[in-house]
Amino acid sequence: MGLEIKIVPDAVTLAREAAQEFHRLAEAAVQARGRFAVALSGGNTPRSVYSLLASEHKQLPWDRIHVFFGDERHVPPDHPDSNFRMANESFLSKVPIPEKNIHRIRAELDVETAVTEYDQQLHDFFRLVDHDWPRFDLIFLGIGEDGHTASLFPGSKALAEASRRVAANWVEKFKTFRITLTFPVLNDASEVVFLVSGGSKARILSEILNPGAQKYPAQSVQPENGKLLWLVDEDAGSLLRLAAPPGS
Ligand code: 6PG
Repeated sequence: MGLEIKIVPDAVTLAREAAQEFHRLAEAAVQARGRFAVALSGGNTPRSVYSLLASEHKQLPWDRIHVFFGDERHVPPDHPDSNFRMANESFLSKVPIPEKNIHRIRAELDVETAVTEYDQQLHDFFRLVDHDWPRFDLIFLGIGEDGHTASLFPGSKALAEASRRVAANWVEKFKTFRITLTFPVLNDASEVVFLVSGGSKARILSEILNPGAQKYPAQSVQPENGKLLWLVDEDAGSLLRLAAPPGS
C-alpha cells in the first residue's frame, strides 16, 4: 500500500489538486480499461472540488466516467442534506455525463431496499460474482471531527461489516440511518483520497495519523492493493508532526 500525506497551503489549492487527481486518474483508467469508476464523498469539503470539475475539467471523457457515492443520508435526492443533490448541483448537472453513468443511492426508499438496490448496481456495473468486491479507480473520502468517514461512525454496527458491500447504518447521534459503502469496498480501491480542510479537523487528523492509537473509523481505511493519499490544507495539518523528507 502506498501512503502519501500532502499538505497544501489552503482550501483552494486543495480543491485544485483533488480535481487534477480526479482528471489524471480518469484519463489513465479510460486509456487502460475504457472507463473510470469513482465514488464521491459527501459533506461540504468536496463541494469546491466538484465545482472545479465542472468549470475547469469539462474536456474529460464524461461518457466513460461512472459516478457512484460512498454514502448517502436517508433522504430524497432533492433534500438539502442529500449528497446526490450536492454533487448534482456542483457538477453532475453541468458536465456532459450520461444519466445512466450516475449511480446514485436511492435513499428515498426504505433503507434495506436502498441498500439492496445499490448493491445490485455495483454487482451489475462491476460484473461481480458472489461476494466479489468492486474495485473503484478512485474513492473520495472525508473525515468528521469524531473520526468517522463515509457513514462509518464510531460505535456504529457497519464498522464490523465484513461480508456486505453496502450497509444501512444506524447513527445514534443523528437518530437516523445512513447508507454506506463498507470497509472491504473502501480497502479494495486502486486509490483513496481523503480531503481534509480547516482548523476544526486539526486535532482529529493528528490523532488519526498518529500510528499508535487505532481507535477511529477513518484509520481502518488501508487499501490493500492501492494508494492512500491524504490531501490536507495547512489549517487541518497544523498539529501534524511529519518527519522531514530525506535530505531536507
Ligand atoms: C457525509 C460524508 C461524511 C463527510 C464528513 C466530513 O455524507 O457527510 O460522506 O463522511 O465526508 O462528515 O464532512 P465535511 O466535509 O462537511 O466536514
